[in-house]
Amino acid sequence: MKKTILVTGGTGYIGSHTVVELIEAGYEVVIVDNLYNSSKAVLKRIEKITGVLPKFYEVDILDGPALNQVFEENHLDAVIHFAGYKAVGESVSKPLTYYQNNIAGSLNLYETMLKHQVYNLVFSSSATVYGDPASVPICEDFPLGPTTNPYGTSKLYNEQILRDVCKAYPEFSVVLLRYFNPIGAHQSGLIGEVPNGIPNNLLPYIAQVAIGKREYLSVFGNDYDTVDGTGVRDYIHVVDLALGHIKAIEYAFDHHGVEAVNLGTGHGYSVLQVKDAFAKACGKEVAFKLVDRRPGDIAECYADTTKAKEVLGWSAQYDIDTMCQDSWRFQSMNPDGIND
Ligand code: NAD
Ligand code: WQD
Repeated sequence: MKKTILVTGGTGYIGSHTVVELIEAGYEVVIVDNLYNSSKAVLKRIEKITGVLPKFYEVDILDGPALNQVFEENHLDAVIHFAGYKAVGESVSKPLTYYQNNIAGSLNLYETMLKHQVYNLVFSSSATVYGDPASVPICEDFPLGPTTNPYGTSKLYNEQILRDVCKAYPEFSVVLLRYFNPIGAHQSGLIGEVPNGIPNNLLPYIAQVAIGKREYLSVFGNDYDTVDGTGVRDYIHVVDLALGHIKAIEYAFDHHGVEAVNLGTGHGYSVLQVKDAFAKACGKEVAFKLVDRRPGDIAECYADTTKAKEVLGWSAQYDIDTMCQDSWRFQSMNPDGIND
């Protein structure tokens, strides 16, 4: 019998790509999303790609009774938990909003799982839990924190909560996936990242410069101790990331306890290298200006990927050129986002 996975935040950027891969891997999918940062039109796009329209509930994970109803109506085998707020800067100005959604919402979900004896969980964590690492590449056993913003702290707290849950309930199986910098889009160009307002992250910003929505890219700092002075990150194709979730779910079904795993490529690229790769992908120059460092940024961040290979049998396949090509295809096919 097909296993059924509840995907919270399943119409969002990473969630939608993971839903596609889950369906293609033979899973039934139930999506819960309050559409705060995504559109219902994503569901039709998923259907166009896979031939399957996933079951959808417009539910806020903070709404206990509504969430309970979803568990009552579906026989769930596991949960992949993406739902949450993710804007780092906004989390500094609205910490309570972030803790409410990312912590209280998650607690609600974990309580409901426990009540319905659904014990398998994959949680969207982030490389941000490592704070400013003492060295790179970053291994899973590096010290965690201090985090530099409430968003990052909400991820760290969720990790700790889930460790405590696994200690108290040995039947629980949790994989904490620490994503590095997800970029790119599905190769169909039908789903991808739709930033709300001015993009905070590098790739969506570059894509909007390339399509003419923004004048130039501000490069935040060129005096870091890196290959060309600009910040270095481990950019990972969102489809690779999605495939990592399939491996994590399979792992969760076969194990108990908690495991934290980095999802990255193991390679770092500088801001200027990414800008150049994008220019190659879209066939035009990307205008830029060098400006001051962005507060809270670190110089370099990339993953040690050994554990993902050993524990999950997963490694990233797509290179930076493919990431930029797919991101550009999505941007040019959907200049105004996903609305139909
Ligand atoms: P996203 O905003 O595109 O997706 C999150 C989805 O959750 C959205 O569709 C939103 O409407 C939904 N949502 C938010 N609060 C909700 C609530 N209370 N109830 C129901 N639905 C709710 O973000 P994404 O980039 O796909 O990120 C997914 C997860 O991965 C998040 O938890 C994020 O923190 C984490 N993450 C993202 C990145 C990244 O760079 N994108 C990196 C590391 C970790
Ligand atoms: C990448 C590089 C910037 C924008 C953030 C979160 C992290 C995770 C992923 C969720 C840096 C530079 C950026 C711009 C620039 N999210 N940059 N001009 O900061 O590595 O990580 O997203 O968990 O928690 O902090 O990603 O894309 O913002 O920046 O020069 O307009 O691009 O300084 O070096 P970051 P990013």
